[in-house]
Amino acid sequence: MDKIVIEGENRLEGRVRINGAKNAALPIMAACILLDGPSRIKGIPDIIDIQTQSEILRNLGGGVKKTEDGTIEIIFRDGENDDKFTAPYELVRKMRASICVLGPLLSKRRRAKVSYPGGCVIGQRPIDLHIKGLAALGAQIETTEGYINASVDKLKGTHISFAGKTVLGTCNVLTAAVLAEGITTIEYAACEPEVQDLAHFLNKAGAKITGIGENKLTVEGVQKLHGVDYEIIPDRIEAGTIMIAGAITRGDIVLENARLEHLSAIIDKLREIGVEITPSGNNTLRVKGNGAYHAVDLMTLPYPGMPTDMQAQFMALLCIAEGKSIITEKIFPDRFIHAAELRRMGADIRVDGPSAIIRGIPFLSGTEVMVSDLRAGAGLVLAGLVAKGTTQIHRIYHLDRGYERLAERLSVLGATIKRISE
Ligand code: EPU
Repeated sequence: MDKIVIEGENRLEGRVRINGAKNAALPIMAACILLDGPSRIKGIPDIIDIQTQSEILRNLGGGVKKTEDGTIEIIFRDGENDDKFTAPYELVRKMRASICVLGPLLSKRRRAKVSYPGGCVIGQRPIDLHIKGLAALGAQIETTEGYINASVDKLKGTHISFAGKTVLGTCNVLTAAVLAEGITTIEYAACEPEVQDLAHFLNKAGAKITGIGENKLTVEGVQKLHGVDYEIIPDRIEAGTIMIAGAITRGDIVLENARLEHLSAIIDKLREIGVEITPSGNNTLRVKGNGAYHAVDLMTLPYPGMPTDMQAQFMALLCIAEGKSIITEKIFPDRFIHAAELRRMGADIRVDGPSAIIRGIPFLSGTEVMVSDLRAGAGLVLAGLVAKGTTQIHRIYHLDRGYERLAERLSVLGATIKRISE
């Protein structure tokens, strides 16, 4: 197992290009099951979750080939591999997002057997809304022996109103509806840029989806979808994480391939804290840190609100911002395991139910910490960048799931950061 070792207090400077979005790539790859013929998807990050998703698709009979330049070629053909409809526990347990093959399998192969993903360290993560949505389209679904077993004769368009916003639940219903008979309306659909990207991808492949980015999606079922060339959106969470790396080290960095319109909540909050952010056109923005940051209150919410996937990173920054900040986690109320690790670095954080109260201190101190999940890991790396002394971060395999060569890229910007085999 590898660990990351950081000597803190180095100012970051330079330019960095943001990779394609993990959470757009995963459902888009799964949606290739619906297409007849090859697709080439550009901007795929080189991370473990993409490898896991590729494995799942190969297991379902798909051809999946990654090229050096971050393009992935995926091919499924109508009528082939109809007897393959299982996403097994060995693969699903590695990555909860593998649940997003459920909708495409049900639509295309009329059967799906997907290991029940269970909870995870960031919270309970039920899938009741996915199941209700697919059942409304006509699927029979039961859970037996740890698997979701779904089958259907013919999916039929209907009106679905989600009782709560769910990103992958919306993706599953959307992918099930595109080839269903008739019209499906999805009320209270998730509007996250990654869901929008999936919808744009499907439309390019021949689907008829309207209301993209709004609360209500309308899907007119079509007979067939074809392979396409597509480029996925830049990763707004990677962009936000690197922006905070610039801010927390009082650095001066330029992000390329950052979509401003997806980053509004993050940019507004960073400016409120005291970080200077200057967009300079062409999806480029400059982040300039300064000496004095102030406490803010922050609440995670569905898009366009503050993403829960940025909560741990903001917590790291607020540890050194003067005054009392309150973070309220509205998406995953238990997603605070990193708070205890940050406390080991000297942070003054008290978790009270779904809120964390942070009192800013002048500096964090390096020590040994442990990563509990992907974004918690990002928060700890950011804390390590500004801490006095050496920070050793263990269990970094969580980081490899979602950030492409994070340590290497931060090192190019001037961080003293190494990856070491333990
Ligand atoms: N929920 C339900 N029932 C459901 C589904 C969700 O009650 O059937 C609840 C959840 O418990 C949670 C809320 O709805 O309170 C939102 O969960 P959502 O379904 O939107 O989460 P997800 O689709 O499973 C995706 C991302 C997560 C991200 C969340 C929230 C992917 C692959 N994953 O998960 O990303 O935190 O949306 O934005 O897109 C990450 O990248 O590190 C990550 C965890």
